[in-house]
Amino acid sequence: MESERITQSSAGAAEAGQEVLLRPQHLEDFIGQTDAKGNLKVFIEAAKLRGEPLDHVLFYGPPGLGKTTLAGIIANELGVDIKITSGPAIGRAGDLAAILTNLNDNDVLFIDEIHRLNRSVEEVLYSAMEDYALDIIIGKGPSARSIRLDIARFTLIGATTRAGSLSAPLRDRFGVISKFEIYKKEELADIIRRSARLMGVEIDEDATLLMAQCSRGTPRIANRLLKRIRDFSQVRGNGRIDLAITEEGLKALGVDSLGLERLDREILSTIIDRFGGGPVGIDTIAASIGEERITIEDAYEPYLIQTGLLYRTQKGRMVSRLGYEHMGLRYPYEDDRREISESEERTGEGEEKDEQIRFV
Ligand SMILES: Nc1ncnc2c1ncn2[C@@H]1O[C@H](COP(=O)(O)OP(=O)(O)O)[C@@H](O)[C@H]1O
Ligand SMILES: [Mg+2]
Repeated sequence: MESERITQSSAGAAEAGQEVLLRPQHLEDFIGQTDAKGNLKVFIEAAKLRGEPLDHVLFYGPPGLGKTTLAGIIANELGVDIKITSGPAIGRAGDLAAILTNLNDNDVLFIDEIHRLNRSVEEVLYSAMEDYALDIIIGKGPSARSIRLDIARFTLIGATTRAGSLSAPLRDRFGVISKFEIYKKEELADIIRRSARLMGVEIDEDATLLMAQCSRGTPRIANRLLKRIRDFSQVRGNGRIDLAITEEGLKALGVDSLGLERLDREILSTIIDRFGGGPVGIDTIAASIGEERITIEDAYEPYLIQTGLLYRTQKGRMVSRLGYEHMGLRYPYEDDRREISESEERTGEGEEKDEQIRFV
């Protein structure tokens, strides 16, 4: 089995248990995502005042940014039960019906990877979301008839890494749609301080900041780095996490000063070495490095774009001047004109960033 990459942002099996300790339970402990959080606080209050279920909520954004965590917090703040499942786990319409008929009023149903629901299941969800009802066909052939079954007034929280893959009818049935943003360095530092406190480990401020900078804007990675570097500090140091042990740990884990690991660097070097820095299509890149296009798009590209190392243009992906420099290479083009003219054409949701994280 392939060993787990340190910066991989999906949760590993061994990690699931430990995550419970570090996972915030209340809105006030949930760091960052201020816009989404502020709005949700109001909607939760209002729903509670009216004694009604919260409107259906859709979360989207890269893995490890806190979608599952925030869903749990919402249920907690509402004081209701949460039932957790995922798109691929609901194979047939009957499976979904079984789940829905077991909910109580105002409960939360969380469906992770909701873009992976199959069509027949999705159709059952439409009337459930809209009318709190299930349409069930009984019998076969000419004697078949449809009956309508009322279910509890529930809140659906859907999470997806790819809002674009959601069908329009499903997307339209969510009252609240929230995009999760990659975290700023200071927010990650707050998360690391909080986690260190919960784990009972002492960590220096400069070590915290370096770790934050290397976490790819992702809380799950921040927590993972903290745990691994604590191991280094206990085995090779005195148990306290200082800058030296953090630098040593990051190096041993193959994480560079921006938090990039092997595959990130491979994406950049492939575009530079084989395609003159781009523009080159995502499918070509995927084929060249032998990775799935989806993996690159969901897990790698958002951070490379966010840090300004990579651009997504209409003609394909391009490595920026910063990207060349980060790879220790001289930018071969006369000036940044190429970059500027291309960046004006930038399209796609991933790029409409009002601010970029700048690492110093
Ligand atoms: N805003 C946050 N504040 C503190 N910790 C967070 C935050 N977001 C995520 N985490 C931590 O990161 C881990 C991964 O978050 P998770 O909700 O599983 O991400 P997602 O569902 O988006 O993949 C959680 O266990 C939690 O400990
Ligand atoms: Mg999740």
